[in-house]
Amino acid sequence: MNHAYFMQQCIDLATKGRGYVGSNPLVGSILVRDGRIIAEGVYMGKGTPHAERQLLEQLNVKTSRRDVSPEDILYVNLEPCCHHGDTPPCIDIIIRSGIKTVVVGMKDPDVRVSGNGIQALRDTGIRVVGPVMPELCRRLNKGFVSLRERGRPYITLKRAQTAQGVTANTDGTKLCITSDEQNTWSHTHLRTTHDAILVGVQTVITDNPLLTIRNTKYEILNSTHQPWRIVLDPDLRIPTDARVVGERCVVIRGSKNTQDSHESKERILKQKGAYIISVPAVNNHFDWDVLWESLSTFPFQLSTLLVEGGEKTWNAFKSAGFVDEEVILVN
Ligand SMILES: NC(=O)c1ccc[n+]([C@@H]2O[C@H](COP(=O)([O-])OP(=O)(O)OC[C@H]3O[C@@H](n4cnc5c(N)ncnc54)[C@H](OP(=O)(O)O)[C@@H]3O)[C@@H](O)[C@H]2O)c1
Repeated sequence: MNHAYFMQQCIDLATKGRGYVGSNPLVGSILVRDGRIIAEGVYMGKGTPHAERQLLEQLNVKTSRRDVSPEDILYVNLEPCCHHGDTPPCIDIIIRSGIKTVVVGMKDPDVRVSGNGIQALRDTGIRVVGPVMPELCRRLNKGFVSLRERGRPYITLKRAQTAQGVTANTDGTKLCITSDEQNTWSHTHLRTTHDAILVGVQTVITDNPLLTIRNTKYEILNSTHQPWRIVLDPDLRIPTDARVVGERCVVIRGSKNTQDSHESKERILKQKGAYIISVPAVNNHFDWDVLWESLSTFPFQLSTLLVEGGEKTWNAFKSAGFVDEEVILVN
């Protein structure tokens, strides 16, 4: 059996949950009989059944004609869970279904599972193959893995620079660097694959960016949630009429003191739909732990973050060691 081929199908299926699963993992599951896929399930976010449960419930309950046979092979890109969360443990329904072989893509980094799901299946005599493609499966869920293993989102830095390495004008005016083709690429491959885009306040003042997904195909645009738009702004310097201010905008400001002079500005920003989060700063740098804690909770639940600049912001992330990937567009 070509496990890599079928696991890739699970991965492709899992991506349908992008934009819906929040800080939970993307998971796809398929059932293979005689080399053909006969059923599939996708996890679509909090409150919905996990992929393998959805697949098995659909078969057992709705289509008795295609009930599970012991020769069927269940594929799933993440180890089935063995704990009670929002839904019951998936291993229970797998064991009840009579399936004899399960192929998993990667071990679940969640400490409540972490190999226990695989072991529990093996303990009942089920053959568990894998993890068969751990690198690709971890890559698919890089944000979920990062949150569980490091307590912070997976972070990508993106910068545009001229052939001479210039990223900004020195006189404070806007410098357009990237071509239309590069913009389409970064909207399609970077903005759509991250939960949030982050910039420093000076970039908002100089460039007045929208920080939305626009330059991409209609189908992608329609199947993707707009990312959160985060501005690091200790002294609330953001203009209230900046284009970024509105739905899904989050302004991170310094903790308030007793003589806070920004109350009316904050009110206007909130009226326009922005969230304001106060985070303590030490030497003008936000406390990272508090920042990650705030951004991992509802309604933000970030697991992936795209840092678009400018220089001071990139440097803050670099010197703190918070860079997992860096993309440089040269034009
Ligand atoms: N080529 C590109 O890809 C690209 C991308 C984006 C921007 N840019 C250009 O870059 C220029 C702006 O860059 P810049 O370096 O001057 O400013 P910036 O990075 O846009 O903003 C810096 C400011 O953001 C706040 N900030 C950033 N990180 C922080 C942290 N960890 N903790 C607390 N506050 C933090 C601070 O605000 P306070 O000053 O209020 O303390 C800081 O001075 C613009 O000209 C823009 O056009 C280029």
